[in-house]
Amino acid sequence: MEYPLLSRLTERAIFDSHAHYNDEKFDGCREELFAELPHQGVLAAVNCGCDLPSSQSAVTMAEQYDYLYAAVGIHPEFWQKGDEETLSQLEQMAQHPKCVAIGEIGLDYYWDKEHRAEQILVFEKQILLAKKLGKPVLVHDRDAHADTLNLLKKHQPDGVLHCFSGSPEMAAEVLKFGMYLGIGGVITFKNARKLPEVVTMIPDDRLLLETDCPYLAPEPYRGKLCHSGLILLTAERVAELRHQSVEHVLSVSARNAEKMFQL
Ligand code: NI
Repeated sequence: MEYPLLSRLTERAIFDSHAHYNDEKFDGCREELFAELPHQGVLAAVNCGCDLPSSQSAVTMAEQYDYLYAAVGIHPEFWQKGDEETLSQLEQMAQHPKCVAIGEIGLDYYWDKEHRAEQILVFEKQILLAKKLGKPVLVHDRDAHADTLNLLKKHQPDGVLHCFSGSPEMAAEVLKFGMYLGIGGVITFKNARKLPEVVTMIPDDRLLLETDCPYLAPEPYRGKLCHSGLILLTAERVAELRHQSVEHVLSVSARNAEKMFQL
């Protein structure tokens, strides 16, 4: 599959705090892309798990490439797979030295409105696991802002609301209890709505950049296969909104990621 390459960075400045190179969309071009990404300015990328097999492959990739790290977790879409046996296997996987977070976990009422209680249960167990292990959480929240906020308030884990899609009011709440906000390619979309305002209110020390690749490629590559190098385009838009330089935005978000992931 074709993927757009930029090669505009002279040094490795991009930290992609949320990627899914374990997705089948990368089958056939994964190795080529992994060899290319450092030349696209990519310093580090964290691959997230959505279930047990994808968590395991995130760990395997992290073993193969210095600049890749892993997060392990059960995505809310797969709450059925969040049984005790699976969670104890996740806990073991999370002991790996390159496993830096529990994720992607959270609530998704867009895809599944029927099983809110079940999603909440699996999410809460994984927040507690992260706290027990002293690792941050990578939180997915789609159309579930109130319940997500309640659980985060209750347990106050370290971590990030990835691909943040809430209101400025919700952003203010999240920032109050010390979590990071993850900003991805959506900020370059014309229909980004509330997000530009949110981006202007995040302090330097709470900002993370991410792709969520293979999805959400920034403009002008919307709909194409996304990869960590394209974060440059997201950073350019974020820098424009915040009246900062691209170098500054890339640098603070990379330092924040290193701090959050304890690297
Ligand atoms: Ni994701």
